[in-house]
Amino acid sequence: MKIEKDFSLKHHNTFGIDAQADWFVTYDSVDDLRILVRDEYFQECRYLHIGEGSNLLFLANFHGIVLRSGITGIEVLRESAEEIELRVGAGMIWDDFVAYCTEHGYYGVENLSLIPGQVGSSAIQNIGAYGVEVERFITSVHTLHRRSGQERCFSRGECAYAYRHSTFKEAEQADYIVTHVDFRLSKVEHLALDYADLKRYFAEHDTKPTLTSVRQAVIEIRQRKLPDTQILGNAGSYFMNPIVPAQVADRLRQAYPQMPVYPLEDGRVKLAAGWLIDQCGLKGYRMGRAGVYEHQALVLVNHGGATGQEIATLAEYVQQAVLERFAVEVYPEVKYIS
Ligand code: EPU
Repeated sequence: MKIEKDFSLKHHNTFGIDAQADWFVTYDSVDDLRILVRDEYFQECRYLHIGEGSNLLFLANFHGIVLRSGITGIEVLRESAEEIELRVGAGMIWDDFVAYCTEHGYYGVENLSLIPGQVGSSAIQNIGAYGVEVERFITSVHTLHRRSGQERCFSRGECAYAYRHSTFKEAEQADYIVTHVDFRLSKVEHLALDYADLKRYFAEHDTKPTLTSVRQAVIEIRQRKLPDTQILGNAGSYFMNPIVPAQVADRLRQAYPQMPVYPLEDGRVKLAAGWLIDQCGLKGYRMGRAGVYEHQALVLVNHGGATGQEIATLAEYVQQAVLERFAVEVYPEVKYIS
């Protein structure tokens, strides 16, 4: 375990915001966590658990403890000819886990290649891309309560998964620290190739879709569309795609027949926030040191030295523009920390 005081978070958030934390604690095991939860200061202090900081915006310095998991490792729980169940440390880098699955011939998470973050945050955020959401492969989530120290295993059903949502994002569950995530993956070929970008990729390339080539395709598509956080600070999609009643989508489709729509099973319709923002003419728009990415309007970027507040001001401007033009509200996927 490593405890650091007055710690710069600049390299711990992909926006590259130079905020400070009073304390920064990296723990390496459940035993480390047990030691922490016995500490009165830790129990009472304001705390924030981060992963790679790829979905956060610091609006100010953080007065309290920032916690980061260093629990890594993969354990095989069960295996048959068709499936494998794995227990993975919450602090493992998500894409290292995807690479491991691809190398071992385990199908499921390859469409989620290159998503920044850790395994624990993948389960909290229900990460999704290219037609796949991680919840489909999660069987349970292991946690430790930061006040009582009690361990609790949440079944997949108890996680209450929805688009970019789980029970762990709700205030009542904020004290559960995810330690491990259990996944069930297929050993039998099972690829999800319906997403438009992937279809296009395999139509244009002379490659057969396999576990490895799908991972490669997703990596190439992401690298083309999303800015490299080492070069241009960002947090991937800044806004969630809005989910609206079918009547709203129909009304918009009449006015904008080319608007992309994704009908959901419950009858509602998901719209593409990137498309809505793009139509407002905001792709590449700059407001001082903050900007809308020139190749994907759903991504806000730090052109260098922007504060969290500057990014948030630009976000409000974008939200207002979409509201005025389409009468649709878009909400940040990024979590604001003040
Ligand atoms: N579009 C535009 N202009 C833009 C951006 C998008 O017209 O500037 C259009 C596209 O042409 C397409 C539609 O909007 O018709 C959707 O765009 P895209 O396929 O790029 O996906 P997205 O809805 O913008 C979502 C996820 C991404 C994920 C991709 C691929 C959310 C909030 N975002 O983006 O996730 O990688 O689908 O599955 O759901 C993230 O969460 O950080 C993230 C990158």
